[in-house]
Amino acid sequence: MAKMWAGRFSKTTDKTVDDFNSSLPFDNRLYREDITGSTAHAKMLGKQGIIPQDEADRIVKELGVILKEIEEGKIAFSDDAEDIHMFVEQILTERIGDAGKRLHTSRSRNDQVALDMRLYVKKEIRNIHALILDMMQELNKSAAEHTETVMPGYTHLQRAQPVTFGHYMMAYANMLKRDVKRLENTYELMDEMPLGSGALAGTTYPIDRDYVREQLGFAAVTENSLDGVSDRDYCIELCSDLSILMMHLSRLSEEIILWCSWEFKFIELDDAFSTGSSIMPQKKNPDVCELIRGKTGRVYGALMTCLTFLKGLPLAYNKDMQEDKEAVFDAIDTVKMCLKVLKPMFETMTVLPENMKRAASRGFINATDCADYLTKKGVPFRDAYHITGQLVGECVKKEKGLGDLTLEEFKAHSEIFGEDVYHAIDLSTCVKERKSFGGPAPEEVERQIGVIGRFIEAHRAFES
Ligand code: ARG
Repeated sequence: MAKMWAGRFSKTTDKTVDDFNSSLPFDNRLYREDITGSTAHAKMLGKQGIIPQDEADRIVKELGVILKEIEEGKIAFSDDAEDIHMFVEQILTERIGDAGKRLHTSRSRNDQVALDMRLYVKKEIRNIHALILDMMQELNKSAAEHTETVMPGYTHLQRAQPVTFGHYMMAYANMLKRDVKRLENTYELMDEMPLGSGALAGTTYPIDRDYVREQLGFAAVTENSLDGVSDRDYCIELCSDLSILMMHLSRLSEEIILWCSWEFKFIELDDAFSTGSSIMPQKKNPDVCELIRGKTGRVYGALMTCLTFLKGLPLAYNKDMQEDKEAVFDAIDTVKMCLKVLKPMFETMTVLPENMKRAASRGFINATDCADYLTKKGVPFRDAYHITGQLVGECVKKEKGLGDLTLEEFKAHSEIFGEDVYHAIDLSTCVKERKSFGGPAPEEVERQIGVIGRFIEAHRAFES
């Protein structure tokens, strides 16, 4: 079929160029946004008397039919259109003739694609936002069940101080809380309607941009037409938000991978969410977590793609910008897939408190509490630290835990030690006494759960 822009050319485009140039294979997913945008535009053209009202009505009606037919699979995306915008306009014109040809009055594909992408990204931000809140809810639920489940906390992956599984899960809930806020922030910044920017320099027609804005549910219209067609900041921001989110999911995945190894055995994954080996009959592998960890890389890649294709582009539109789509779409698809599989996997895994406790009772994670015991009885902290260090040294030699030492052995290092030391360095005391704001004490974790619970409730409204 002859190109819409064939007028000034004396040759048809080379096949390799057509294939290279075409974005329809991947931008066809914008059909809904494209038709929604065109419908608003046509209504505005009719209302402003830029095209006859009856033709505007015919356009709007036929666009509705086309949308329905695409959704029902009755229209296939042919490969002779250059992109989704040309594709929809071609079908419309085939069906309603001249009226269809008037749709593009005072519009360019440059502001059209800018609009479509914004509509799409806004929609997907709302979807991802909902999935993150679902995951946070899951973390909250698990935390509430495990406010007393003692496990070792680590630094340098060395056993450090006791925490609880609930406390641990709340750390991840707080990371996701920031992810939710970041997405809301990106949404708010990008909530401007670019249609009416034209190719780059606005238009001579008496358009009503605010009317289009209102129909499409944007908070404002873009202020400058050059910026309106060339701004892809929101693609970078979205990919950046999603990269950070994936980094969080990847860290959680890594922990789960460690925790279900025989070395830790803090959790057991459900059979439905694990995979086997083709040769080793005993294997039960955490493939889901490994894939989430691995897929983090492709979301980072999308961020690099957007940052790089925009760098050095002169104003306004350049075809380089077509590269935003595959990157942004892939990042969105990847994140949604990961969240959708992570939640049920997490929900069905079994926590093994006994194993956590066993791990916590070795490695002297109550050593700080032993030093604190002395400090609270008046010994300066540095001295208490030194005494406890000597005790730990003795325990290592004797292959004992601090709690296994006799009172005589304690007293040999300091007369201050009394019978109450055993209670002070008991793991559940160690956790219960860490009541400082943000700490692992059960009542404190309950408070944290409350904060996240209220956050989830308050932020659900964003999706509607
Ligand atoms: N498919 C193009 C894109 O995604 C649409 C805009 C094309 N504009 C143009 N002047 N060639 O960026």
